[in-house]
Amino acid sequence: MNRRTFLKRIFGSFITLIGLSGGTYYYAKELEPNMLDIHYVDIISKKVMSAFENYKILQFSDTHIGFHYSIEQFEKLVRKINAENADLVVFTGDLIDNPRTYTVNQRLVTLLDQIQAKDGKYWIYGNHDHGGYGTNMLKELFDQSGFELLQNGHRQINKNGDMINIIGVDDVLLGKPDINQTFQGVDQNLLTILLAHEPDYAEIAKDYPVDIQLSGHSHGGQVQLPLIGYLYTPHLAEKYVEGYYSVGNRPMQLYVSRGIGTTRLPYRFFCKPEMTVYQLKQN
Ligand SMILES: [Fe+2]
Repeated sequence: MNRRTFLKRIFGSFITLIGLSGGTYYYAKELEPNMLDIHYVDIISKKVMSAFENYKILQFSDTHIGFHYSIEQFEKLVRKINAENADLVVFTGDLIDNPRTYTVNQRLVTLLDQIQAKDGKYWIYGNHDHGGYGTNMLKELFDQSGFELLQNGHRQINKNGDMINIIGVDDVLLGKPDINQTFQGVDQNLLTILLAHEPDYAEIAKDYPVDIQLSGHSHGGQVQLPLIGYLYTPHLAEKYVEGYYSVGNRPMQLYVSRGIGTTRLPYRFFCKPEMTVYQLKQN
């Protein structure tokens, strides 16, 4: 951590302690975490084939169910996801905050199963999914709900002979990400969208034929202060925190979602929960 970052965090923590009192505290704990921003983002690339013009990919991430995020809140989210009528739905990790203490119930399976996408539903592991011995539990849960896991794997989506690749790496912090394995058998001429939980993985992905990386994990910092910005983000969400980035020389497009839930602290301030709807466009 450099000196500037250190001072920013100390100063920010001080302001937070003073500022998050009374009404502000109520707002940050009870109100903002329930405000959903739906971001509509155009992904423009020469590699988008005609059949994929205006193709809709919906990303949701980091729900952290069980930590100040209930099944009832998730049910509302599922309704909002389905209202978008997406072609593809992707989940980019951290479904349950602590799998060790969370008991999965049928209602969660049913809700995940109710999520609709014309061409399929895909997910990748986040660090919280692997943590607390959640690896098998989460796999079973998503298997039962019609979501396909991309753990260093890929799928080709075919529409009338036009195609895109959707690929995903295992979680970087607690899994075994292997981008070389991920690319085995992938037609590199096609538009390739990578799902990677930790956004800073872009530093590796940018040197591979990835056109677009979609990530979460950062929560956008959860608490942002005017003039200061975010105070803290988790490891591997330190360089890329929120929104759109152009990375490397090719360049690769990176989009980092602020995610849905909260972790560590149950607050959001100037950093609303986010669900993102990408639309593919030809150049
Ligand atoms: Fe995470």
